[in-house]
Amino acid sequence: MKFSIKTCVFLVLILSIGCSNEPKEAGDDKASTIDQHSFANTKEAIVTHISLNLAVDFDSTLLKGSATLTFDNLAQAKELILDTKDLIVSKVTIDQGQSTTFSFGEEHPIFGASLHVAILPDTKNVTVHYTTSPEAGALQWLSPSQTLGKEYPFLFSQSQAILARTWIPCQDGPGVKFTYDATIHTNPELIALMSAQNGTTKNANGVYSFTMEQPISSYLLALTVGDLEFASTGRNSGVYAEPAMLAKSVWELSDMQSMIDSAESLYGPYAWGRYDVVILPPSFPFGGMENPRLTFATPTIIAGDKSLVALIAHELAHSWSGNLVTNATWNDFWLNEGFTVYFEQRIMEKIFGKPYEEMLTKLGMGDLELTINELIAKGKSEETHLFLDLEGRDPDDGLTDVAYEKGRFFLQAIEALVGRERFDIFLKKYFTENKFKTMTTEGFLTYLNTHLLTPEEQDELQADEWIYGPGLPDNTPEPHSVELDQVEQAIAQFNNGLIAANKINTEGYTTHHWLYFLRGLKNLNSDKMNELDAAFHFTQTGNREIACDWFKHCIEQNYKIAYPALKSFLIDVGRRKFLTPLYTRLAATPENKSWAKEVYTLARLGYHSVSYKTIDEILK
Ligand code: BES
Ligand code: ZN
Repeated sequence: MKFSIKTCVFLVLILSIGCSNEPKEAGDDKASTIDQHSFANTKEAIVTHISLNLAVDFDSTLLKGSATLTFDNLAQAKELILDTKDLIVSKVTIDQGQSTTFSFGEEHPIFGASLHVAILPDTKNVTVHYTTSPEAGALQWLSPSQTLGKEYPFLFSQSQAILARTWIPCQDGPGVKFTYDATIHTNPELIALMSAQNGTTKNANGVYSFTMEQPISSYLLALTVGDLEFASTGRNSGVYAEPAMLAKSVWELSDMQSMIDSAESLYGPYAWGRYDVVILPPSFPFGGMENPRLTFATPTIIAGDKSLVALIAHELAHSWSGNLVTNATWNDFWLNEGFTVYFEQRIMEKIFGKPYEEMLTKLGMGDLELTINELIAKGKSEETHLFLDLEGRDPDDGLTDVAYEKGRFFLQAIEALVGRERFDIFLKKYFTENKFKTMTTEGFLTYLNTHLLTPEEQDELQADEWIYGPGLPDNTPEPHSVELDQVEQAIAQFNNGLIAANKINTEGYTTHHWLYFLRGLKNLNSDKMNELDAAFHFTQTGNREIACDWFKHCIEQNYKIAYPALKSFLIDVGRRKFLTPLYTRLAATPENKSWAKEVYTLARLGYHSVSYKTIDEILK
């Protein structure tokens, strides 16, 4: 944590000058990059396997048990340093159970406390006996009333970015990869699932065993426990959901198997065996999380018309970009998300066709432009760079549309420059040659310049502007969508008072047309809000994406008729992407802010820490 990123960039410069005719080979073996968000001494001793034995205690909302970490002592280290946050450690042993000493470093409000375990030069593994705290940031413990079935409690974890350390003592940085196995003890009425090999049915004794044979980073450690059932969706894919959601989920996700097949045809074999999705309760703070072998997903994608399945294409794509070739540090986050949005776009194009894909890309550009303008207006233009400097900050702060969408358009710019054929050959090679490794931004650039671009193309691409510069360079591809052109016309007419809402021809509108429509509305007032609602019944929509965009207008226009529905939305749904813009708009006037605070006293109880930490800040 002592090295600043400037030191790193400086070192990289020195190194690359020193051996300029021998480019630094991309893809780090071991952890050779400084991780600003981890205390672990990975240069000296690096964890290669974790063996968990945990009991899930719903009464006290705790996990209790042990983690045995096998490691390579690379430098005769005298201690193994692990990341922890809010863990209560009772005992640490080495190898066959010999006792050893341990101590904690000073507690940091974001990064937690380092755990120092004394080891001998030939120590092979360390076992930490511990309990989580009820506040463990990764874990959300749901009471039966917060589930669909209302009968059983539920637990899920969310480890990305640096929350694995709140439930497992580990080297909690993406640059360290290890295999794992686990034994989880829970109530016999429930099934436990992990980012590993899973069963499909409950065990009478409530004991579940897991193995993850491929090396993964700690942010991909995941556990969920609940009343879940399984149904297959194809050769190596399936869905877990609460019983009342299962049939709907299977129908909604019927394209999953062809997504896997398309993805493999693009960038090489799927490396993880099965690909399953678990549909979680609505408090899940993200749309989806790419936990290996088992994507965790929000139920808000189950829209009833398959219109939100791009999210599955996205999480599946992470099986290559992210899970196989992993961002070395959170400053390189765009390597995970930008590549994944590009890959998602390619899967969507293959399955649903170019016009469909173009709608998604055009919506993505809309989001990106808003984000960039906002960041620049706030004087945070360095946050519009692809490569970030998150030193001393929560890596969560780097989670903006920049990593996702600017990242996607950068890859689109490369595609435009060299043509799809050459780019696809390059990407397939990149994933194959770097699988199970980590990648730095500089490592990727070196790889790109070595294996794809001619010197002329390198000049033309302006990669440095994309990565280390603000906003969008002048070679940004301009997205175009024929489907959305129609909507554009309708919006222009409506905004200028030239057409009544109920006269707009919305036949064939999908969720994406509606989102574009809602995002393009201007000059609204209460009459127009009434008119729109009467024509399209937005307030009552069950589609959470559409509802969120509609509610943004409702707040800005003080359209109070929608407030009861808005209140239910804020209480029912814990997905941060929806909550942040709504609470932010509510916080803009004293009246709305006090209403929001009232709703929040109730709603907060149902949110995961990732969401309530963000909303606490907005409403403080
Ligand atoms: N890996 C991310 C979620 C994430 C990122 C969690 C950073 C914590 C820190 C996941 O793949 C993701 O991007 N989810 C998106 C959906 C996607 C379709 C853009 C989401 O949750 O909205
Ligand atoms: Zn993602």
